[in-house]
Amino acid sequence: MNPIITRRSFLGNTTLVGAGLAAGSLFAVEPSAGAQKLKFGVIGCGGRGSAAVKDFMAACKILGCEAELVAAGDAFKDKADALGKAHKLAPERCFGGFDNYKNVIASGCDYVLMATPPSFRPLHFDAAVEAGKHCFIEKPVAVDPVGARAVIATGEKAKAKGLAVVAGTQRRHMAEYLRNKALIDAGAIGEIKGGVVQWNGTVPWIKRRNEGESNASYLARNWLNFNELSGDHIVEQHVHNLDVAVWFLGRLPVTAIGFGGRARRETGNMFDFFSVDLDFGDDVHIHSQCRQLAGSYGRIGELFTGTEGVCYGGGKLKGKEVSIPEIKLDTDNGQVQEHVDMIRSVMTGKPINDAKSIAESTLVAIMGRIAAYTGELVRWNDLVKNTESPHYNYACTPTALDFEKGEVTLPAEVPPIPGKA
Ligand SMILES: NC(=O)c1ccc[n+]([C@@H]2O[C@H](COP(=O)([O-])OP(=O)(O)OC[C@H]3O[C@@H](n4cnc5c(N)ncnc54)[C@H](O)[C@@H]3O)[C@@H](O)[C@H]2O)c1
Repeated sequence: MNPIITRRSFLGNTTLVGAGLAAGSLFAVEPSAGAQKLKFGVIGCGGRGSAAVKDFMAACKILGCEAELVAAGDAFKDKADALGKAHKLAPERCFGGFDNYKNVIASGCDYVLMATPPSFRPLHFDAAVEAGKHCFIEKPVAVDPVGARAVIATGEKAKAKGLAVVAGTQRRHMAEYLRNKALIDAGAIGEIKGGVVQWNGTVPWIKRRNEGESNASYLARNWLNFNELSGDHIVEQHVHNLDVAVWFLGRLPVTAIGFGGRARRETGNMFDFFSVDLDFGDDVHIHSQCRQLAGSYGRIGELFTGTEGVCYGGGKLKGKEVSIPEIKLDTDNGQVQEHVDMIRSVMTGKPINDAKSIAESTLVAIMGRIAAYTGELVRWNDLVKNTESPHYNYACTPTALDFEKGEVTLPAEVPPIPGKA
């Protein structure tokens, strides 16, 4: 039976915003039109950073305020310049080098958008919060347990300072996902007993090393193929689906066991595929499956099987009749809505703080990667609590600070061997 929403009027026509559907995420006050000019900067001027700048501007338009890009930073000055040029930003406001983030943060902006490779996120995020900036942090937010825990700690600092922190997990800002989450919470599929989350696609891109190129430059350009910078694709890409699992189940996995391997990746040291069993306790297991192999069958999404129905992520839901509040967002574009939600939360004095949830989802993905790389059973507590565990202090090198200091050793371009890693 398809669920029927019978209580649409519960929240009237109020716009629902924010990552959750709790009444607490409803904002009582709308920002006054045209009241403010929002100054923002961006760190990481690649595909996502460039798009996030436009998304932020689109969000400001929706909210009736002005946006002013005041700084752009990238490890490579020409990339910062290119983004700057597209937005009529003066060249002296475009910064290169691995300390570019310091200049962006010091540029007089109120908001910082962070879209570098994830290994740099903990350092940049902390610097931005220290300086009192509202932060948009692209997913994932770390590549190792040390980094993920640092993001949680910085998130607490942001909370104490009243700063907004919004993650680039756009599914949490899309009506179809919010609706299914609300239906599940209202009992539409009963109790979730298991599921599968998948990102089966191809290697997005590779970059070859140029002759005479430094380690730092090669790694920063080809970051998507090195686990020390990207977290491997289970973290970098599949975190989206794992985040949905954690969000829909409302809890974290207890253990992970899995495997993976490399069939024909051409650069770097990552796996091509992972298959990980996540045990969420109470006999509930979620299968996490991801693959980057051209020519293979593609499927991206989530499926949850409940005692009384089934839900496909933000798609079809078959189950019991329940009633939920109406969900009405400002835009169908989750990547714009996330900025609307961030800005509105600041304007209404109720800053959203996604730091913990995105750090935890990132850590779930890291847990899966460690399980596959080592062949071991990995416990959540080994990543967050058990300081005696070798996984607890696991930090990938080169670190973000190594790049800044110019001390970058190239990791071996061979994948880990399970049982020996
Ligand atoms: N939410 C989404 O759907 C989504 C989609 C794509 C990418 N992303 C995420 O956004 C981030 C960036 O991905 P992308 O696709 O834009 O990659 P990209 O390679 O296109 O851009 C990354 C940029 O960061 C720069 N960079 C590298 N190190 C840097 C440093 N220390 N300081 C400043 N800049 C640095 C690179 O030169 C590059 O210009 C990643 O975390 C990725 O997972 C999210």
